Amino acid sequence: MLSRRTFLGTSALACLGGGVYGFGVEPLSLAVESVTVPVRGLDEALDGFKIVALSDFHLYPFTELPFIQRAIDTARGLNPDLVVLVGDFVDATAEAILELAPAFSSLNARQGVMAVLGNHDVGKGPALVTRALKGAGVEVLVNRAVEIGVGQAYLRVAGVDSLQGRQDLGSALRGGKDGVPTVLLAHEPDIADLVAQHGRVDLQISGHSHGGQVRLPVFESLSLPRWGRKYAFGRYQVGDMVVYTGRGIGTTGVPIRIGSVPEVSEIRLVRA
Ligand SMILES: [Fe+2]
Repeated sequence: MLSRRTFLGTSALACLGGGVYGFGVEPLSLAVESVTVPVRGLDEALDGFKIVALSDFHLYPFTELPFIQRAIDTARGLNPDLVVLVGDFVDATAEAILELAPAFSSLNARQGVMAVLGNHDVGKGPALVTRALKGAGVEVLVNRAVEIGVGQAYLRVAGVDSLQGRQDLGSALRGGKDGVPTVLLAHEPDIADLVAQHGRVDLQISGHSHGGQVRLPVFESLSLPRWGRKYAFGRYQVGDMVVYTGRGIGTTGVPIRIGSVPEVSEIRLVRA
């Protein structure tokens, strides 16, 4: 049996080890999560269309540019058809976007790079964040959609503003050709219940929750943010659509990740 002193010593060492891991190892790790989403009515020309999603960069104070650059390089290496950036570019100040946005210029997706803003962007300076992203060639979708042509086929990519901003799902999903498969970018995943009611979206891509960021069993529910609790990470079926919530790249609040490795999401659309 462990003596009280040995038990306390072992516990202290375990806490220290956990702290070192959560502070210095996991936040600088990176996982590629691959998911295949069957889409009804997907044209043959779009079969296998690859979307790479990145979210929750939170540049400064805890997450730094070299780590984000690694995630961007990983996205490049996946040879994407489209890259989507799902919000929360900045954290403490909007000015960080002036350093971050140019890094997106190196993305090589055949159909370009598209983005929505997150609650932190909306809170710190949406105009500056939007301007910098556009300056780097990123298409920012605030309550609107674009249709991209691949061969004879079309894919609609819609974006809705953060729930902390001027969310207007109706405008985001209005108009366009009938029967065109639709991907919605929405920073906060829990908007999915509302989205599913529209019946026009095949796939919603979200971030925001950081997968809980610090996922200790006892505190799991406490670590999830508002609007990111129900569809917190991974894949969900909500009505007729699929929701995919990535764990994001950076950290916010505390510079720690435990049980929620930063993620680059590789999403392949296939014919249902
Ligand atoms: Fe967020």
